[in-house]
Amino acid sequence: MTIQEMQERIAQLKKEKNAVILAHYYTRPEVQDVADYLGDSLGLSQEAGKTDADIILFCGVHFMAETAAIISPDKRVLTPVLGAGCSLAEAITGYELKRWKEEHPDGLVVSYVNTTADTKAYTDVCCTSANALEVVKALPEDKEILFVPDSHLGAWIQKVTGREMTLWDGHCCVHHIVDGEMVIEAANKYPEADILIHPESICSSDERVLNMPNAYFYSTAGMVKHAKESPKRQFVIATELGTIHKLQQDSPDKEFIPISERLICAQMKKVTLEGVLEALEKEQYVVKIDEPMRSDAVKSIDAMLKL
Ligand code: 13P
Ligand code: SF4
Repeated sequence: MTIQEMQERIAQLKKEKNAVILAHYYTRPEVQDVADYLGDSLGLSQEAGKTDADIILFCGVHFMAETAAIISPDKRVLTPVLGAGCSLAEAITGYELKRWKEEHPDGLVVSYVNTTADTKAYTDVCCTSANALEVVKALPEDKEILFVPDSHLGAWIQKVTGREMTLWDGHCCVHHIVDGEMVIEAANKYPEADILIHPESICSSDERVLNMPNAYFYSTAGMVKHAKESPKRQFVIATELGTIHKLQQDSPDKEFIPISERLICAQMKKVTLEGVLEALEKEQYVVKIDEPMRSDAVKSIDAMLKL
């Protein structure tokens, strides 16, 4: 089957089955092109909560499909691939949080949304890279906070908000390579460009980068918005390379330069167009979170959406 034939068949199946396809910016371009909604972690969670489709086919890594299943238990949530992991989600378990809470009964656990349902079940409030600053700023001043699992995102939040937190020692294996030297080199090479950096990057607490006038920290959706609205013509992109597909689609006359060709999330790329078609045809693989874990986990997402 050609790509076009697959895309046509997917469109037909979506209609027949009242299915919606949600995809993250890090998926392959041909997968992004069949999505009804393309977005960052925050946008995708919001979309999963408001769709009236019967089936949500989630194109992303496993924790994202789990999040959709937590938010929409009455929908059939499908993932085209089993075993698409994430180094952040795998860095912590619910059991470890349970232990911490026993030792810190008055403490609050803030979890980045890149966590399993089990971890979310022991979390007080979730956040994404798009709302992390607002979420932490809204928490009571007198509470001890444990921030999991991304130490780089946590360090960035501490720097920007001034709020002290205990940070878990996890990181994204993709953004971990974006350090201060890499950003300084890019800034010297492209002095006219804005540098758009994901806060999962190791440089997100590096003063040299934080003080650069043309460096901005954003979630992926924030980058897309900034590039679209900015009068600048050139942008250095410090996040997973899949994002450049949307950036270029929105602004064909602007130039987007990846800060490194190594910024590829192999787990996100496991989702293929063939897999999407097969998932719709066979209605596989179903992602369902059992009770009471789901009800416990949804509280942390509701707390985030309320804030
Ligand atoms: P956002 O979707 O919040 O930009 O995060 C990127 C990411 O790494 C998702 O796994
Ligand atoms: Fe996880 Fe990093 Fe891949 Fe996002 S880019 S899914 S945080 S490993």
